[in-house]
Amino acid sequence: MNRKGIILAGGEGSRLYPLTKDTSKQLLPIYNKPMIYYPLSLLMLGGINEFLIITTPRDSESFRSLLGNGEQWNISISYEQQSEPKGIAESLLIGEKWLNDSHSALILGDNFFFGHGLPELLRSSFLSKEGSTIFLHKVADPERYGVAKFDKNNQIIAIEEKPKEVFSNWAVTGLYCYDKNAPAYAKDLSPSERGELEITDLNNIYLSRGELKTEFLGQGFTWLDMGTHDSLLEVSNFVKIVEQRQGIRIADLDDLKMQD
Ligand code: DAU
Repeated sequence: MNRKGIILAGGEGSRLYPLTKDTSKQLLPIYNKPMIYYPLSLLMLGGINEFLIITTPRDSESFRSLLGNGEQWNISISYEQQSEPKGIAESLLIGEKWLNDSHSALILGDNFFFGHGLPELLRSSFLSKEGSTIFLHKVADPERYGVAKFDKNNQIIAIEEKPKEVFSNWAVTGLYCYDKNAPAYAKDLSPSERGELEITDLNNIYLSRGELKTEFLGQGFTWLDMGTHDSLLEVSNFVKIVEQRQGIRIADLDDLKMQD
């Protein structure tokens, strides 16, 4: 597949202190696997086999020692560092050289997705050649996320980051498909009030150019971010229940090993 995967696994994990005092959030256990296995396996399910993992300088060595160069799973894994958490969109600048004009799928290292038909949905989005795709999921607390706004015909007209007033419950999840222009567009971004290059601003550039597609993850899908103590427990329990009741393994990289 001519689309490369970027997993953004930096950040301070401040909400998880002291668990993250000397380790990365994305290395913490989610039931029986490190957190990073879940986003990595998701992109593999979509058919991607070349990955860039972006970490803090502090944690780079730990990720390398856990995942290596990926050959054990017939994938390739490269690494880059983000010196400070200056925004999710910075990952496309950090990854620009490595992307080398390829399309990309960017996923946040703390996002968990599960649902029937997800591999097929991902494959078809990942194969799309033009523009970008965002994946929306309904939430009860939209003020915590990037949120999509729609017109009367249900067409997306804007995305707002952490809106104060609720205008829709469709949150933008931490999985994004971009064409080769994403690093160039990211260069036009300025830091937001919170001092970050916002991924929402990049998505709004695609939207204003008429190049943004939306996929609605309906009721059959589960999406959670794993950035709080409660959500670490909740996702761990979710994985335990599914694995034990249904006898399947979620994010089992050995199982998913790509075929040559
Ligand atoms: O989870 C989806 C949400 O992620 C989206 O709905 C929002 O539009 C998007 O801005 C983002 O929201 P948050 O403000 O909650 O993102 P947070 O700062 O928690 O970062 C998400 C993950 O990305 C986290 O695991 C740390 C990592 N990260 C974040 C930043 C800003 C980095 O590795 N580097 C960074 O510079």
